[in-house]
Formats: sequence, C-alpha cells, structure tokens
Amino acid sequence: MAKGPYSEKVMEHFMNPRNMGEIEDASGVGEVGNPACGDVMKLFLKINDDGVVEDVKFKTFGCGAAIASSSMATELLKGKTVEEILELTNNAIVEALEGLPPAKIHCSVMAEEAIEAALKDYYERVGKDPKIVDEIK
Ligand code: FES
Ligand code: FES
Repeated sequence: MAKGPYSEKVMEHFMNPRNMGEIEDASGVGEVGNPACGDVMKLFLKINDDGVVEDVKFKTFGCGAAIASSSMATELLKGKTVEEILELTNNAIVEALEGLPPAKIHCSVMAEEAIEAALKDYYERVGKDPKIVDEIK
C-alpha cells in the first residue's frame, strides 16, 4: 500500500471496520458530533448484569480516522467492565491504532466522548448518577 499519513492499523480498520451497526436493545447509547463539520459518531453498548460489555457497535459519519477510531474503540471495549471503560482515553485508542496524524487526533477524541455519552446513558438507565462519569474523568 502507498505510504500515506496513516499507520497500517488505521488503514486496516478503515477498510475493514469491526462491529459496525446498531444494537436494538442496547444498555447505553452515546451520540456525539462536531457541529463545525457535521461529523457524527453513535456508540451502542450492551452491558450485562455483572457490568461487563457483552457487545458493542458503532455508526460513524466521518473521516477514515474517525471510522478507524470507532472500530478500534469497539475492540478495546468488548469484555471490559464499566469501571475499566471509564479509564479508557482517546490516547489508548490512538496507541492501539499505532498513531494518528496530529490533525486527526480530534477524531479519536470523538470516540472517547461517544464512550462517555454511552456510559452516562447506561448509568441513567440503571438509576445511578451519570455525573460519576465526569468525576472519574
Ligand atoms: Fe469533523 Fe474532524 S472534521 S471531526
Ligand atoms: Fe471529521 Fe475526522 S471525523 S476529520
């Protein structure tokens, strides 16, 4: 493949995104967007009674880096506990992608924000205070 600004990992996740789609009976859904450009990311979490992510899906309207970031995020989230997800930052996503060009870091931030929004939604649904998410962050 021609050498561009993206790592092979980014290209691979962009060409072949994991866990794309929706979860009908999700435990938490997060939607974030950048009003400046109209990019949108939607993340669906299915969390079981033990607080473990059983399934995760995403839909992203954005650039290749945003799609790769969402795809990688779903891989990092699967099988993790809610507590573990709270610690997940966009840096972890960027690292797992073997880097992103500086101008594309904000696309991975959108993935972190989508995870936070989905967790807040989950906390609300189970009757907990969604502010827990902000306090840990
Ligand atoms: Fe829209 Fe980057 S241009 S998020
Ligand atoms: Fe718009 Fe990445 S999502 S530049």
